Amino acid sequence: MAIPKLLHPYALPTREDYVTIVSGDGATITDANGTTYIDALASLWYVQAGHGCRPIIDAVHAQMNQLATFHTFDRFANEPSEELAARICDVVPLADPRVFLANSGSEAVDTAMKLARISHFRAGQPDRTIIISRDRGYHGVNYGGMTAQGLPLNKEGFGPLLPDVVQAPADDLEAMATMFAENGNRIAAVITEPVQGAAGVFPPPDGYLEGLRRLCDQHGAYLIFDEVICGFGRMGTWTASEFFGVTPDIITFAKGVSSGYVPSSGAVLARNVVEPLEADDTWMLRHGYTYSGHPTASAASLANLDVLADGLLDRAKKVGARLSEGLKSLASDGIIDSARGAGAVWAAKLNDGRDAISVRDAMLERGVIPRPIGDAIGFCPPLVITDEQIDRCVDTLAEVASA
Ligand SMILES: Cc1ncc(COP(=O)(O)O)c(C=O)c1O
Repeated sequence: MAIPKLLHPYALPTREDYVTIVSGDGATITDANGTTYIDALASLWYVQAGHGCRPIIDAVHAQMNQLATFHTFDRFANEPSEELAARICDVVPLADPRVFLANSGSEAVDTAMKLARISHFRAGQPDRTIIISRDRGYHGVNYGGMTAQGLPLNKEGFGPLLPDVVQAPADDLEAMATMFAENGNRIAAVITEPVQGAAGVFPPPDGYLEGLRRLCDQHGAYLIFDEVICGFGRMGTWTASEFFGVTPDIITFAKGVSSGYVPSSGAVLARNVVEPLEADDTWMLRHGYTYSGHPTASAASLANLDVLADGLLDRAKKVGARLSEGLKSLASDGIIDSARGAGAVWAAKLNDGRDAISVRDAMLERGVIPRPIGDAIGFCPPLVITDEQIDRCVDTLAEVASA
């Protein structure tokens, strides 16, 4: 074994032993030795439609045959990206929105942060530059989203971060209210995941998202929901905004929009955010990625949205119910400390003294791949997972955690 040429993301640069994945089918993947595993985190929280989903594969193939790629900078358009934007506008609870397309969650977040600021700037409020995020938040790795992260280790050593991007304590609405009281007319936006995912799956306290909405309304700031994990089916609804009944001004999305078959992401902007950008028809938006509106990524997303609409949103509710019941029963038996989550994304907080990485490794040996996060084991399976496979995830955790 040798250190591979590929420098892996979020990995030890000295690691030599990787599990090489060669194929996937439904909620399972298979490695180069022929071992098949349950993909209990839908890769990295994104393969809602499962592996080997024929309609998405066929749509990508057809689009590639017709027009694999062309940009959407001024003055060009393509049908799949226009159609995708329209479809997304139809399923989000925002009034008369528009959609900006990108490729990754990090790009979606940095887009949301930039567009929030420039919208205020264009509306004659150039001092509104402060963006507040929450401790425990994960918003990707580009400089905007990294600065907005509430996970300090991920920010260490990368040099100066973005000015005017600050964190509030994760669940403390009073602390957020104080920040507004001190700087209300300089705040451009609050960004939060409706359910904090990468930090360990933390649903919002009761009334918290409503409280953020109120504060933003009172002080003229935008509310951004980072729905990169929660959006597009994970909650059993199209958006977490719909699930929690709180409407933000901007929604970022990625992962579930295409189930990751081709990277696809973006930000949905409500009318109040878009309006200042449309006010002067000589002003140009100087923001965009080479692959914004990529036709093949858009075709993959459109096919994936069809698959979600065709039963998977409902299935997500059942997946979440069975998974959470299983984890809660482990908690009541004392095998784990507790279960937390919402929709079809859950985490098992381990008992004191249990190491999440060792638990994950032992589960991996038994053919189930969840994600170790801090003191917890995360589950966010493909929505096509069967009841038997869900039970196997829970039983395998029970076996390992009680050993
Ligand atoms: C809420 C949230 N925002 C942003 C990101 C960054 O997405 P990406 O890794 O595609 O850049 C993630 C990734 O997990 C995420 O969970």
